[in-house]
Amino acid sequence: MHIKSAEFITSNSDAAKCPKDRLPEYAFIGRSNVGKSSLINMLTSRKSLAKTSGRPGKTQLINHFLINHDWFLVDLPGYGYAKVSKSIKKVFQKFITQYLEQREQLVTAFVLVDIRHKPQPVDQDFMQYLGEKGIPFSIIFTKADKLKPKAIDNHVEDYKNILLETWEEMPNYFITSSSKDIGKEEVLQYIDSLNQS
Ligand code: GTP
Ligand code: MG
Repeated sequence: MHIKSAEFITSNSDAAKCPKDRLPEYAFIGRSNVGKSSLINMLTSRKSLAKTSGRPGKTQLINHFLINHDWFLVDLPGYGYAKVSKSIKKVFQKFITQYLEQREQLVTAFVLVDIRHKPQPVDQDFMQYLGEKGIPFSIIFTKADKLKPKAIDNHVEDYKNILLETWEEMPNYFITSSSKDIGKEEVLQYIDSLNQS
């Protein structure tokens, strides 16, 4: 898919104030610093459309970016590094769960996880929560440039084994690197196929 235009539309802390258009949207979520905003820049080939930072906690609001005047990419704040499992409601601010649960235009969420790390309780709990709410999601592994191909395969395999303890099937997943432009076409093609269906 060719991205001809990508523009920032709004930042919101109230799900009810998000754009009123009925255009399909795709939201990026995951732990702080996992690379959500960087991935939006990679997908749109815009260096600083979404604000990124080396320090966790950069994105604080629900950010809508209009793509090709036809659909939205949505950048969300991250959740914490909590080692102990906490209820999703405690990890997230209320406006994020409201957005996820109420936004009818949300076609799918992309849950980003750093390919270097094993599944964390907070990520597993979050996927569980999406499942319970019936919110479709795919997994995006980020920072693939940090590992060699063999290590990538091993880490994905470990991830699958752990997720298959609770899920019947491995959710749809993508391997990406925003600094090396890996996985861009695959993610865009997937979005394109959902936009057509
Ligand atoms: P919050 O908004 O704080 O939740 O973070 P975020 O998930 O939006 O992460 P962001 O895109 O701001 O990136 C965090 C850090 O990771 C930055 O220093 C990025 O340069 C770095 N980073 C993001 N993606 C990649 C990647 O694919 N490879 C490498 N090596 N670094 C990356
Ligand atoms: Mg961010």
